Amino acid sequence: MRRRVGGLIAAVFGLAVFAVPGAPEANVLGVEDAPAVADDVELFGADPNIPPTKRKAMLAWLAEKRYLEGYTAEPAVHPSEGPHGGNVRTFFNSILVEDLSAGRTTFRKGATMVKELYFGSTDTVRGYAVMVKVKKNAGSTGKGWLYMETFNGTQADFYGRGIGICADCHSAGTDYLLSEFRP
Ligand code: HEC
Repeated sequence: MRRRVGGLIAAVFGLAVFAVPGAPEANVLGVEDAPAVADDVELFGADPNIPPTKRKAMLAWLAEKRYLEGYTAEPAVHPSEGPHGGNVRTFFNSILVEDLSAGRTTFRKGATMVKELYFGSTDTVRGYAVMVKVKKNAGSTGKGWLYMETFNGTQADFYGRGIGICADCHSAGTDYLLSEFRP
């Protein structure tokens, strides 16, 4: 009897722990596996200039280097002025480039920055930091931005809307944009 009860508990426990779809990885902060923009599937699903907002799909999109099409890159790889680990190169999508050219200081939904992280090298991309504007207004805590950072390109080390570790520092920028690159 005892054994059966134990087995039952293990089975229930196992179900609870392992059967949750999209269970968060160990060190992911602020995980939201539901699409950040469920109300906006058309804009976010159809425009190839905007990465998918779900974590795994975004990582796959980065691995395929889809941002190389239609994005505008900083002229060269350079050392980060922030805590972004060594050398970096940032890419802006066309929505952000248009907003900046038009002098807008509040960017439109879909505005995206992709930052390649090179760490010590200048020729091998090791990770990425990404910001996607998912709401018209960023709000006081930056919830209008989805943040993702991966240090190995395969696992999201940080992922979520308005997560404090990113938003607190980025709030000093123009609608959370800190890079001074203006294409
Ligand atoms: C302590 C400050 C600080 C923190 C924390 C920080 N960043 Fe940044 N970030 C910067 C600075 C400064 C830049 C621009 C210059 C550079 O990269 O050297 C930048 C640039 C970026 C860019 C390119 C677009 C832009 O705004 O310039 C992205 C994307 C980005 N960060 C994502 C993130 C994510 C995701 C997190 C959280 C995991 C994060 N950052 C945390 C300081 C910070």
